[in-house]
Amino acid sequence: MEIALLPPLIDQIIRETSSQGWCFLPRLLSDQDLTLINQFIDQHKGDFVAAKVGKGSNQARREEIRGDYTLWLDPLSPPEPFRPAVQFLDQLLVALNRELFLGVKEFETHLAYYPPGTFYKTHLDKHEQNSSRAFSFVFYLNQEWSEENGGELVIYNKENKALTTVFPKPGSMICFLSEDFPHEVKAAKCERRSLTGWMHTKIIN
Ligand code: OGA
Ligand code: MN
Repeated sequence: MEIALLPPLIDQIIRETSSQGWCFLPRLLSDQDLTLINQFIDQHKGDFVAAKVGKGSNQARREEIRGDYTLWLDPLSPPEPFRPAVQFLDQLLVALNRELFLGVKEFETHLAYYPPGTFYKTHLDKHEQNSSRAFSFVFYLNQEWSEENGGELVIYNKENKALTTVFPKPGSMICFLSEDFPHEVKAAKCERRSLTGWMHTKIIN
Protein backbone atom coordinates (compact mmCIF):
# COMPACT_ATOMS: atom_id res chain seq x y z
CA MET A 1 0.00 0.00 0.00
CA GLU A 2 1.28 3.45 -0.89
CA ILE A 3 0.74 6.31 1.52
CA ALA A 4 2.32 9.28 -0.22
CA LEU A 5 2.38 12.38 1.95
CA LEU A 6 2.14 15.69 0.19
CA PRO A 7 4.77 18.32 1.01
CA PRO A 8 3.12 20.82 3.42
CA LEU A 9 2.85 23.74 0.99
CA ILE A 10 1.40 21.56 -1.78
CA ASP A 11 -1.01 20.13 0.77
CA GLN A 12 -2.07 23.66 1.78
CA ILE A 13 -2.75 24.59 -1.85
CA ILE A 14 -4.81 21.44 -2.35
CA ARG A 15 -6.87 22.02 0.80
CA GLU A 16 -7.53 25.72 0.22
CA THR A 17 -8.21 25.34 -3.50
CA SER A 18 -10.67 22.61 -2.66
CA SER A 19 -12.47 24.68 0.00
CA GLN A 20 -12.31 28.24 -1.45
CA GLY A 21 -10.86 28.00 -4.96
CA TRP A 22 -7.69 29.97 -4.29
CA CYS A 23 -4.64 29.90 -2.02
CA PHE A 24 -2.00 32.45 -0.99
CA LEU A 25 1.43 31.34 0.26
CA PRO A 26 3.32 34.21 1.92
CA ARG A 27 6.79 32.72 1.38
CA LEU A 28 7.61 30.19 -1.29
CA LEU A 29 10.81 31.42 -2.93
CA SER A 30 13.89 32.19 -0.81
CA ASP A 31 15.86 35.43 -0.82
CA GLN A 32 18.61 33.56 -2.62
CA ASP A 33 16.17 32.39 -5.34
CA LEU A 34 14.96 35.97 -5.72
CA THR A 35 18.47 37.38 -6.03
CA LEU A 36 19.29 35.03 -8.92
CA ILE A 37 15.90 35.57 -10.58
CA ASN A 38 16.25 39.35 -10.45
CA GLN A 39 19.75 39.19 -11.90
CA PHE A 40 18.27 37.18 -14.77
CA ILE A 41 15.50 39.75 -15.29
CA ASP A 42 17.97 42.65 -15.23
CA GLN A 43 20.10 40.87 -17.84
CA HIS A 44 17.12 40.08 -20.10
CA LYS A 45 15.15 43.31 -19.78
CA GLY A 46 15.57 44.02 -23.50
CA ASP A 47 13.82 40.73 -24.44
CA PHE A 48 10.53 41.56 -22.72
CA VAL A 49 7.68 42.59 -25.02
CA ALA A 50 4.65 44.81 -24.38
CA ALA A 51 1.75 42.50 -23.48
CA LYS A 52 -1.28 42.71 -25.75
CA VAL A 53 -4.97 42.00 -25.25
CA GLY A 54 -7.25 40.07 -27.61
CA LYS A 55 -6.58 37.09 -29.86
CA GLY A 56 -5.07 36.52 -33.29
CA SER A 57 -5.48 39.44 -35.64
CA ASN A 58 -7.44 41.35 -32.98
CA GLN A 59 -4.40 41.57 -30.71
CA ALA A 60 -3.49 45.08 -29.69
CA ARG A 61 -1.52 46.95 -27.07
CA ARG A 62 -4.08 48.71 -24.89
CA GLU A 63 -2.42 50.30 -21.89
CA GLU A 64 -5.79 51.43 -20.55
CA ILE A 65 -6.43 47.69 -19.97
CA ARG A 66 -2.98 46.20 -19.33
CA GLY A 67 0.45 47.81 -19.16
CA ASP A 68 2.87 45.00 -18.38
CA TYR A 69 5.82 43.60 -20.36
CA THR A 70 6.36 39.85 -20.58
CA LEU A 71 9.00 37.26 -21.39
CA TRP A 72 7.88 33.65 -21.92
CA LEU A 73 9.97 30.87 -20.38
CA ASP A 74 10.18 27.27 -21.51
CA PRO A 75 9.03 25.22 -18.48
CA LEU A 76 10.63 22.09 -19.99
CA SER A 77 14.09 23.64 -19.84
CA PRO A 78 13.86 26.66 -17.55
CA PRO A 79 16.85 28.92 -17.05
CA GLU A 80 18.70 27.88 -13.87
CA PRO A 81 17.21 30.55 -11.53
CA PHE A 82 13.68 29.25 -12.22
CA ARG A 83 14.35 25.59 -11.37
CA PRO A 84 12.96 25.81 -7.80
CA ALA A 85 9.71 27.37 -9.01
CA VAL A 86 9.33 24.96 -11.92
CA GLN A 87 10.06 21.92 -9.70
CA PHE A 88 7.38 23.11 -7.31
CA LEU A 89 4.92 23.52 -10.19
CA ASP A 90 5.73 20.02 -11.49
CA GLN A 91 4.81 18.59 -8.07
CA LEU A 92 1.73 20.79 -7.83
CA LEU A 93 0.45 19.63 -11.22
CA VAL A 94 0.60 15.98 -10.13
CA ALA A 95 -1.15 16.78 -6.84
CA LEU A 96 -3.91 18.83 -8.52
CA ASN A 97 -4.70 15.83 -10.69
CA ARG A 98 -4.41 13.22 -7.98
CA GLU A 99 -6.32 15.10 -5.28
CA LEU A 100 -8.67 17.44 -7.17
CA PHE A 101 -8.98 15.66 -10.54
CA LEU A 102 -8.26 18.86 -12.46
CA GLY A 103 -6.93 16.91 -15.45
CA VAL A 104 -4.13 19.36 -16.14
CA LYS A 105 -1.50 18.28 -18.68
CA GLU A 106 1.16 20.98 -18.64
CA PHE A 107 1.80 24.60 -17.79
CA GLU A 108 3.03 27.70 -19.55
CA THR A 109 4.65 30.59 -17.76
CA HIS A 110 5.98 34.08 -18.40
CA LEU A 111 7.89 36.69 -16.48
CA ALA A 112 6.16 40.02 -16.22
CA TYR A 113 7.09 43.48 -15.10
CA TYR A 114 4.75 46.41 -14.64
CA PRO A 115 6.43 49.81 -14.93
CA PRO A 116 5.36 52.30 -12.23
CA GLY A 117 1.79 53.49 -12.81
CA THR A 118 0.74 50.57 -15.02
CA PHE A 119 -1.98 48.06 -14.12
CA TYR A 120 -4.16 45.24 -15.45
CA LYS A 121 -7.90 45.88 -15.28
CA THR A 122 -10.33 43.25 -14.01
CA HIS A 123 -10.31 40.15 -16.22
CA LEU A 124 -10.78 36.40 -16.19
CA ASP A 125 -7.81 34.24 -17.18
CA LYS A 126 -10.16 31.75 -18.85
CA HIS A 127 -12.06 34.23 -20.97
CA GLU A 128 -12.91 32.11 -24.01
CA GLN A 129 -15.07 29.02 -24.07
CA ASN A 130 -12.37 26.94 -25.75
CA SER A 131 -9.52 28.08 -23.52
CA SER A 132 -7.83 25.14 -21.80
CA ARG A 133 -6.58 27.25 -18.89
CA ALA A 134 -7.70 25.65 -15.63
CA PHE A 135 -5.37 26.87 -12.89
CA SER A 136 -3.57 30.22 -12.58
CA PHE A 137 -0.49 30.96 -10.49
CA VAL A 138 1.59 34.06 -9.78
CA PHE A 139 4.93 34.18 -7.96
CA TYR A 140 5.96 37.64 -6.74
CA LEU A 141 9.59 38.42 -7.42
CA ASN A 142 10.38 41.85 -5.95
CA GLN A 143 13.00 41.60 -3.21
CA GLU A 144 11.27 44.27 -1.14
CA TRP A 145 7.71 45.50 -1.12
CA SER A 146 5.98 47.94 1.19
CA GLU A 147 2.19 48.11 1.03
CA GLU A 148 2.34 51.82 0.38
CA ASN A 149 3.82 50.95 -3.03
CA GLY A 150 0.39 49.60 -4.06
CA GLY A 151 0.50 47.00 -6.84
CA GLU A 152 -1.97 44.73 -5.09
CA LEU A 153 -3.87 41.92 -6.75
CA VAL A 154 -7.59 41.98 -5.96
CA ILE A 155 -9.56 38.78 -6.46
CA TYR A 156 -13.33 38.97 -6.94
CA ASN A 157 -16.12 36.47 -7.13
CA LYS A 158 -18.51 36.37 -10.10
CA GLU A 159 -20.82 38.82 -8.28
CA ASN A 160 -17.98 41.34 -8.26
CA LYS A 161 -17.42 41.13 -4.51
CA ALA A 162 -13.77 41.44 -3.50
CA LEU A 163 -12.68 38.19 -1.81
CA THR A 164 -9.06 38.99 -1.05
CA THR A 165 -6.31 41.51 -1.70
CA VAL A 166 -2.69 40.44 -1.80
CA PHE A 167 0.39 42.60 -2.05
CA PRO A 168 3.31 41.32 -4.15
CA LYS A 169 5.47 40.49 -1.13
CA PRO A 170 8.91 38.97 -1.79
CA GLY A 171 8.72 35.27 -2.65
CA SER A 172 4.96 34.97 -2.11
CA MET A 173 2.64 33.09 -4.47
CA ILE A 174 -1.06 33.06 -5.22
CA CYS A 175 -2.97 30.51 -7.22
CA PHE A 176 -6.63 30.10 -8.13
CA LEU A 177 -9.03 28.30 -10.45
CA SER A 178 -8.83 30.20 -13.74
CA GLU A 179 -12.54 30.02 -14.52
CA ASP A 180 -13.98 31.30 -11.27
CA PHE A 181 -12.19 34.47 -10.22
CA PRO A 182 -12.09 37.82 -12.01
CA HIS A 183 -9.06 39.76 -10.73
CA GLU A 184 -7.13 42.97 -11.25
CA VAL A 185 -3.65 44.32 -10.70
CA LYS A 186 -3.56 47.83 -9.24
CA ALA A 187 -0.97 50.38 -10.24
CA ALA A 188 2.23 50.48 -8.20
CA LYS A 189 4.67 53.25 -7.37
CA CYS A 190 7.66 51.14 -8.40
CA GLU A 191 8.36 48.39 -10.89
CA ARG A 192 6.45 45.21 -10.00
CA ARG A 193 7.86 41.83 -11.03
CA SER A 194 6.17 38.43 -11.23
CA LEU A 195 6.27 34.97 -12.73
CA THR A 196 2.77 34.20 -13.95
CA GLY A 197 1.37 31.11 -15.58
CA TRP A 198 -1.43 28.69 -16.22
CA MET A 199 -1.95 24.96 -16.04
CA HIS A 200 -3.83 23.67 -19.07
CA THR A 201 -6.19 20.75 -19.60
CA LYS A 202 -4.67 20.28 -23.09
CA ILE A 203 -1.18 19.97 -24.47
CA ILE A 204 -0.52 23.50 -25.64
CA ASN A 205 2.61 23.28 -27.77
C1 OGA B 1 -2.21 38.04 -15.32
C2 OGA B 1 -2.50 38.48 -13.94
C3 OGA B 1 -1.77 38.92 -11.68
C4 OGA B 1 -0.62 39.52 -10.91
O1 OGA B 1 -1.07 38.19 -15.77
O2 OGA B 1 -3.14 37.52 -15.98
O3 OGA B 1 -3.65 38.56 -13.61
O4 OGA B 1 -0.79 39.70 -9.68
N1 OGA B 1 -1.50 38.73 -13.07
O5 OGA B 1 0.41 39.82 -11.50
MN1 MN C 1 -4.91 37.32 -14.84
